[in-house]
Amino acid sequence: MATHTIGIIMNGVTGRMGTNQHLIRSILAIRNQGGVTLSNGDVIMPDPILVGRNENKIQALAEAHNISRWSTDLDQCLNDPYNLIYFDSQTTVRRAQDLKKAIAAGKHVYCEKPTATSLEESLHLARLANDAGVKNGVVQDKLFLPGLLKLKRLIDSGFFGRILSVRIEFGYWVFEGNWQPAQRPSWNYRKEDGGGIIIDMFPHWRYLLDNLFGTVKAVSCLGITHIPKRVDELGNTYECTADDAAYATFELEGGIIAQVNSSWAVRVNRDDLFTIQVDGTEGSAVAGLRDCKVQHRVNTPKPVWNPDMPNPINFREQWQVIPDNQIFDNAFKVQWEMFLKHVVADEPYTLDLLEGAKGTQLAELGLLSWKERRWVDVPELSIGGVKV
Ligand SMILES: NC(=O)c1ccc[n+]([C@@H]2O[C@H](COP(=O)([O-])OP(=O)(O)OC[C@H]3O[C@@H](n4cnc5c(N)ncnc54)[C@H](O)[C@@H]3O)[C@@H](O)[C@H]2O)c1
Repeated sequence: MATHTIGIIMNGVTGRMGTNQHLIRSILAIRNQGGVTLSNGDVIMPDPILVGRNENKIQALAEAHNISRWSTDLDQCLNDPYNLIYFDSQTTVRRAQDLKKAIAAGKHVYCEKPTATSLEESLHLARLANDAGVKNGVVQDKLFLPGLLKLKRLIDSGFFGRILSVRIEFGYWVFEGNWQPAQRPSWNYRKEDGGGIIIDMFPHWRYLLDNLFGTVKAVSCLGITHIPKRVDELGNTYECTADDAAYATFELEGGIIAQVNSSWAVRVNRDDLFTIQVDGTEGSAVAGLRDCKVQHRVNTPKPVWNPDMPNPINFREQWQVIPDNQIFDNAFKVQWEMFLKHVVADEPYTLDLLEGAKGTQLAELGLLSWKERRWVDVPELSIGGVKV
């Protein structure tokens, strides 16, 4: 039984996603559990080197988690053959240039979504990685959330019959930053810094819809900036140049209709920050991040429209909870483990830069639909003559 120690450059790791999901909940959790075990008994042990611009911050983060390797010099880290993987969770606009450097240095690359802010750039990255023969992956964490894994279980069991429609409600109130600090970084609300809810969330909707229900074929999208001014981390008021809500409809392969509301200017009156309702001929389901409940056609009540009397049916009580039946691990960690097995043992892995480019494509076409106030078809993508 051999141990494969893998040097991983982690860039953007002082950020929200970098620290919590990728460092603490994924890489450190994998180290603490004794690595990732392969089918032949070998173990993969990730060995991170934290990279950032601010020496004090990066050193403090490394020390807080007993990590010996940290640096402010990305090029030096890339030159070191011990580091096999480059990981990026910087703000979106910084990603492409450093991914290109890493690919040129022969590193396998793994990164947050979106891979870039334009389809051209996202496809370029996929081509570069393909040509260089490096393994590559893009975060598609929602696929591994307990609520969505339960939904996938229902789909695979044939529970729904013919799936008719999908409705996603995503969002919550992001404070403006004046009388209460905002709970998301200010760059999210500036287009010039890679912000905007369409660029941010449509990549998630793309892989979710494609993987669970069928390829997205067309999009109609209305974006808006509901809150025109916000206050940043330093207390300065700034103009919001990016969309903070998007009201979209997607047509999927097989005729399924998906309506998706995404908003950072909505107050939550539902079971979770994200809920997805699926209606089929045989049954329906509503899933959140962790939970999922169903109503089969034989349990479906028969409401009659009559506003002259109080509603006699408690609709919410008539749904059944889907049990866990398994232990669910952190969604980001599950994907990291898959990617590490792909790098070390060549295990199959499909969530690559090309799949990431499909997410950027949907965001770009959503923005076009909004601008031109029309439905837009989503063409198939290809690199090197291979359609994906
Ligand atoms: N998968 C998901 O569910 C999910 C959720 C939120 C964000 N994200 C993505 O993760 C990425 C990071 O988002 P976040 O919310 O963690 O942002 P953040 O602002 O908290 O962190 C960004 C990181 O990039 C670094 N950075 C910022 N500006 C920089 C610059 N000019 N030069 C070098 N480094 C710079 C910061 O120091 C920090 O480490 C974004 O691309 C975002 O789209 C993904």
